[in-house]
Order: sequence, then structure tokens, then C-alpha cells
Amino acid sequence: MAERGSSLAFSTNHLDLAADVVDLWKTWLDLPTDKCANFFQTLSDDERERAERFHFPKDRGRFVVGRGFLRALLARYVDVPPGEVCFRYGRCGKPELAVAEQLGIQFNVSHSHGLAVYALTRQRAVGIDVECIRHIPDMELLAERFFAVPEVTALRSVAREKLAEAFFNCWTRKEATVKACGDGLTLPLDSFTVSLAPGEPARLLSAGPTSLGASRWQLEGLTLAPG
Ligand SMILES: CC(C)(COP(=O)(O)OP(=O)(O)OC[C@H]1O[C@@H](n2cnc3c(N)ncnc32)[C@H](O)[C@@H]1OP(=O)(O)O)[C@@H](O)C(=O)NCCC(=O)NCCS
Repeated sequence: MAERGSSLAFSTNHLDLAADVVDLWKTWLDLPTDKCANFFQTLSDDERERAERFHFPKDRGRFVVGRGFLRALLARYVDVPPGEVCFRYGRCGKPELAVAEQLGIQFNVSHSHGLAVYALTRQRAVGIDVECIRHIPDMELLAERFFAVPEVTALRSVAREKLAEAFFNCWTRKEATVKACGDGLTLPLDSFTVSLAPGEPARLLSAGPTSLGASRWQLEGLTLAPG
């Protein structure tokens, strides 16, 4: 697992990606206007239209930096200028590289509270989800609604002071799994089970009746920034 900072976006050196490695990148999204403008120059027409649809300038800036950083990143793995990186979207919206010979590079993006994280692999489906650990009212009710029964049981046995950590362990592991297979919300979150107890390794415990079972999945719990 290779972790790298945000300075990358301005270097143009080629980046290799071995078959058994997941490259992880992260960047904070609240950058100065000039850096934001640099990224905006690399966006495609549809991305610029999407940026314009954001009501709040802060959200618009974060989208521009998040997508611009993705383009600068992918450009270094597939050796084209950032503005020439082309995306296509899966049936549930998962973006992937549109050029056939570049498809060896798979990637996924997640952002939360101003932090964006990126995972890149070679010829392996990948999903990543980041969440800022925060108090959510009715966490247990949310869990009963979306989590699988064994996860709700496990969550109930976690010490009160560890509840938020356990809840977000479960949430991010489920979202990352859903995002890896690209099925989005069409894959019911309670149809598979992940580990969640603080200190316990991240694992897909059961794939249930889902399409997940067909493949072998590795889950990793990561702390890419405090909280
Ligand atoms: C994908 C999804 C889980 C994202 O969850 P989220 O916590 O809101 O957002 P995250 O920050 O973690 O991820 C967002 C990124 O995931 C990627 N993404 C979008 N759709 C995706 C999908 N189906 N699978 C994997 N990744 C997806 C995009 O890169 C997006 O970044 P962008 O908005 O800057 O383009 C959620 O948007 C979803 O389920 N979408 C699918 C909708 C759906 O199922 N529709 C039903 C008909 S198919």
C-alpha cells in the first residue's frame, strides 16, 4: 500500500503500478483560487457544467480540485496530458477510463469533509470510501435500517465510547465494497456482512446471495487522516 501526499498533482513523471499493489493518494480539497483555476483548465465540458451546477462556491471548488487532481493523477499512470484523460461511466455511475488500452488502470475516488482519497490498481476492481468520524444522531437506528443483522448485533456489543468508530468502520467497509463492484445502491447494504469492531481486521465476512461471492475480495481499514 503506497501512500502519497498532494504535491503530486504538479509533477508529470510517469508512475508505474505493479499488479499486486494498490496506490493510495490523498489531497485536501480547499486549495487557493489559482490552484483551483489550474485544475479547472483540465476539466472536460461536462465536468465544467457539473461544477457550475454547485450552488456553494466551496462545494464547486472542492469538486473542481477533486476531479482535477484525479485527472493529474491518472495522466501520470497512462501518459497523456490531464486534459486528455477520458472517462466513461458504468450503469450506476462508476467512472472508469474510456480508452481500452488504458483500462488496465482501475481507480476509485471518495471524498468527505474536504478530504479526497484515491485508490488505483492494475486489472483489479477497487472501491474506496472515506468518512469523517462524527456524531450522527440515531446511529443504532441507521444501523438497523442499513446494516446486516450480524453487523447490528456486533455493533451492540461494542463499548459506548467506541460506537462511532465501529459504526464508521462498518459504513466505509460496506460503501467501499459496493463501490468496488460498481453496483451502487442496487446492491442492498444488508445483503453482505463486514467486520466492524475497533482493532479487528477489516474483512468481508459473508457475501450472502450477492454477485460479490463470485470474486475474492480483500478489505483494508485505513486511517488516511486523523478522525
Ligand atoms: C457511489 C456511491 C456509493 C457514492 O457514495 P458517496 O459516499 O456519496 O460518495 P463518495 O465520496 O464515497 O464517492 C463519490 C465518488 O464515487 C465515484 N462513483 C460514482 N458512482 C459510483 C459507483 N456506482 N460505484 C463506485 N464509485 C462511484 C465517483 O468518482 C464519485 O466522485 P465524484 O462525485 O467526484 O465524481 C453512491 O453515490 C451510489 O451508490 N451511487 C450509485 C447510485 C445508484 O445506485 N443508482 C441506482 C441505479 S444504478
